[in-house]
Amino acid sequence: MVKTQIEKKYQPYQQDLEEVENMIINSCTKHYSFYQELVEPLLKSGGKRLRPLLTLISFKLNSSICKKAYPVAAAVELIHTASLVHDDVIDRAELRRGEASLNQVWGNEISVLIGDFLFTRAFNLLNKTGNREVINIITEAVTCMCQGQIMEVRGKSNIFLTQGEYLKIIDLKTCSLLQASCLAGAATGKLHSPYAKIMADYALNLGRIFQIKDDLLDLSLSSQKTGKTHFKDIQEKVVTLPLILLFADPCYGHLARELFLKAEHNPEAVTEIKNIFQASKAARELDEVIGYFYCQARRELEQLPCSESREALENILDKIKNY
Ligand code: FPP
Ligand code: MG
Repeated sequence: MVKTQIEKKYQPYQQDLEEVENMIINSCTKHYSFYQELVEPLLKSGGKRLRPLLTLISFKLNSSICKKAYPVAAAVELIHTASLVHDDVIDRAELRRGEASLNQVWGNEISVLIGDFLFTRAFNLLNKTGNREVINIITEAVTCMCQGQIMEVRGKSNIFLTQGEYLKIIDLKTCSLLQASCLAGAATGKLHSPYAKIMADYALNLGRIFQIKDDLLDLSLSSQKTGKTHFKDIQEKVVTLPLILLFADPCYGHLARELFLKAEHNPEAVTEIKNIFQASKAARELDEVIGYFYCQARRELEQLPCSESREALENILDKIKNY
């Protein structure tokens, strides 16, 4: 059994998550000679299983027996994993979840193909549900992820990227699948508005917090803690919210922009950006932004009836905010 970081805290979903885990693995094993070498390490690398959990919780808001939601929950995790495999190719990443990334070990060709493979296994599961609404929700989300990722790549090195543009990128590349995980779970459980809309708005704010924290950790924590290469965004010239706020700082902005533009093969410039970020007011502003989205998400949850599901969603929110 895969050890996930989030499942122990969510006892009511433990059994269901295990069933989903089996479904993920079974969907990728049969007849595929490369499974053990290329796919198993990815599936057993200890992801949080946040998206399947959101699918199960959303489903349970209206229904009790989760079996129908398993293929949908498995599919969103497979799509998430596929997107990370492709993302690591785009980012030229060396590490993922504390281990050498697939592209680092096997190269880009194999990684692109394994990403595609996982992606098709996800849609194989979704097809079997025969639920056109669910398939549509997930397909639209994947289109959004591609759009967001394209915008991010095209925005590289753009020191004038605005907060609004950044938000648009993360809403598309990160929040859309979290929202779809909720909406697809709700649709499988025949839960329609207003709760489905509340879940989607909650997931939007949760995703924003998640991505902003992820971007902050890239700048502030070591690889040992994140399981990813430190300062990867700066090295790859990806402009994230911590940098946008730093570039706007009246004292440090000018220097930060200069350092950023020459940071690619310059470890001293990278370290200096980290140091001036801590000294600037950007760090505090970033906390305020996270606090704002946290309040928005809490407000969404207040509209749900008090239940085990709502408590789990509050726990997830706190966990993401403090991770
Ligand atoms: C990680 O972001 C990546 C994403 C949130 C989305 C990636 C999406 C695609 C590659 C397009 C969709 C592709 C498929 C196969 C569905 P990050 O780079 O900010 O996070 P990281 O620090 O974990 O790398
Ligand atoms: Mg990345």
